Amino acid sequence: MSSIQFVKETKTFILSNQQISYILGVEEGVLIHYYFGKCIKNFSNVPEYPQNINQSFSPRLSGAENEYFSLNNLPQEYPGNNQGDYRTPANEVTHANGSTVTDFRYHSFKIIQGKPELDGLPATYADDDSEAETLIIKLVDAVSSMELYLSYTIFAAQSVIVRSARYVNAGTEDCRIEKAMSSSIDFPYAERELFFLSGAWANERNLIREPIMPGTKQLGSVRGASSHAINPFLGIGSKHFTESVGEVYGFSLVYSGNHEMIVEEDQIGQCRVQLGINSHDFSWQLKPGDDFQTPEVVMGYSEEGLGKLSSAFHELFNQHLVRGRYKNETRPVLINNWEATYFDFDAQKILDIAKASSELGVELFVLDDGWFGHRENDRSSLGDWFVNEEKLPGGLDGISKAVHQLGMKFGLWFEPEMISEDSELFKRHPDWILKTPGYPASLGRNQYVLDFSRQEVRDNIYQQMKKVLDSAAIDYIKWDMNRNMSEVYSSALGSTQQGEVYHRYILGLYEFLERLTSECPNILFESCSGGGGRFDPGMLYYMPQTWTSDNTDAISRLKIQYGTSIVYPVSTMGAHVSTVPNHQTGRVTPFEVRGDVAMSGVLGYELNVTKLSEKEKKEMKQQISFYKKHRELIQFGDFYRLLSPFEGAATAWQFVSRDKKEALVIYVKAHAEAAPHLNVLKLAGLTPEKMYLDESGKQYSGDELMLLGLFVENLLKGEKTSEYQSCCLYLKA
Ligand code: GLA
Repeated sequence: MSSIQFVKETKTFILSNQQISYILGVEEGVLIHYYFGKCIKNFSNVPEYPQNINQSFSPRLSGAENEYFSLNNLPQEYPGNNQGDYRTPANEVTHANGSTVTDFRYHSFKIIQGKPELDGLPATYADDDSEAETLIIKLVDAVSSMELYLSYTIFAAQSVIVRSARYVNAGTEDCRIEKAMSSSIDFPYAERELFFLSGAWANERNLIREPIMPGTKQLGSVRGASSHAINPFLGIGSKHFTESVGEVYGFSLVYSGNHEMIVEEDQIGQCRVQLGINSHDFSWQLKPGDDFQTPEVVMGYSEEGLGKLSSAFHELFNQHLVRGRYKNETRPVLINNWEATYFDFDAQKILDIAKASSELGVELFVLDDGWFGHRENDRSSLGDWFVNEEKLPGGLDGISKAVHQLGMKFGLWFEPEMISEDSELFKRHPDWILKTPGYPASLGRNQYVLDFSRQEVRDNIYQQMKKVLDSAAIDYIKWDMNRNMSEVYSSALGSTQQGEVYHRYILGLYEFLERLTSECPNILFESCSGGGGRFDPGMLYYMPQTWTSDNTDAISRLKIQYGTSIVYPVSTMGAHVSTVPNHQTGRVTPFEVRGDVAMSGVLGYELNVTKLSEKEKKEMKQQISFYKKHRELIQFGDFYRLLSPFEGAATAWQFVSRDKKEALVIYVKAHAEAAPHLNVLKLAGLTPEKMYLDESGKQYSGDELMLLGLFVENLLKGEKTSEYQSCCLYLKA
């Protein structure tokens, strides 16, 4: 049960469910933030906030009764600009006369059952109105007549609040939005730790923790994508919070383009957190009558450490973000030919791999890059989405039929947003790329970015893709995006609108994805951007899984998958077993370890199965059959992180079924140590009084496993000090 209450006497809004409360109010027409955290069951309705702070050099808001009423000190919901709050504003608008004050004051509110859609943007949703409630507060800037609608949704069962903002120009003159955050929140104290997910290509989403310090920390992306570098997620937690202890907040922006995240500790130790579209190279022209909708931010809360915060995000994304047939359906085990063949393949090679894989239990064959145009390497043919019949005589229909005859599904790789100079499309439409007049366009991986803000560009690619999809039975699409943007400019927009291109591109992409995914409801989509360069909730709204990283090395993957799991559910993480020496790191790890790590996500293989030894084939077959038995538990069970690869040599995590009758523990030791410290692995999430049996018949009680724990070294089969060992322990009540 969730509820949104408005207390008239104190002009206070209280949003709460069993777990959390979010409280805000109106003072002098300004929206003041009172509280976000664990549910306050008995709120006295007399809000406490720092209203009498006598701070010199903090201007009093004009017209305010209380002489200390300064925006510079008040905890606000959505701070405006140039009115004496010297912290970071949530918006910046240039009005027709060049002025930049934004003074949005409370006007009215409405409460809606359920959650309205966001026009043109991915967003969390409620299937049923009883699952969520939404408060929309209208504010008005009386001078410019601009309106601002702040939206707050509380879900009945999750400890999250979802926020977004919409601007309407209700005046008579044009204005330009220079910055429009999706959310802003002021916490009363900053003595906390900040954490976020930072990385690079092949090294995505490392978990970084650091103290919050006075001043402003800005994180984000200006790459035209949510990026490998900084994921659109940020958290703050009480000092020394752990997986199970401490108060932790997380903020996740449902957006795939340039994002900006701010954490600011002010002069009096308050802490402002903001997320939204990156304001660098952003501006949006708003003519009278126009409106602008920001993407939304999911704000999660846990009073029991990071683990519970992750669960809140996992549950929300699984239940209220991912859509379509595969939302609740377990995902097939796939084989992808990329690392097996790169561009060097023909029909026979592909079918040999498919056949050998089908015999081992693989369910889906994915034909990766190189099947179209005359693409023999990464220097040509993007934009020419027709099959290369020289490589694949009989076309896609032929190969897909042959794969289906093996009892497998058939999937295909596309990179629709890109174009090669050496392509028929480029010959016809050299002006369809993002390119700034007078400046040469930079190449990235030998390719240009198509201007997806333009309808005719999207239509052309859509029609080409549709033709391919109609030509053969295709069950899966991997949607890739292999470079970031530069020289961003759209020849279809005038000079006053160039600040809109990055965002219009993303809106165009979303429109395309909505069209494609609703026209092909049975296709399983996996998004990719050189691995995890666009692993974000925006893409997950259209595509239920993402290729987590181009780095398939099992040991690197421990950190990558661990970091990813802070926000994203296991069901969204594509994870493949590849060959050794690993193509990204050169490391050699046992097949078992590679399997255990890849099994901790949506399992796939990316190697030439025809070249495996009989022993490896046997192992692969066993892995697949084990995974199939437990994949419901792995993909959709509750996920617990037990040992962090960021803290020591061992990593462990655990999957627990909803009814707590089954659990699966995966433990990996990443390097050898002489006289290693003993690792006691305390399990989590079990029923204390239940008895659990392992596969050898050994019995443990739930509380014994959680309190006393297991000496994992006992379970490892190899030499006690050897590198790269793993084990997988299945327990059943
Ligand atoms: C990207 C993907 C890879 C593969 C290649 C093909 O790098 O992440 O998995 O599909 O493109 O060019």
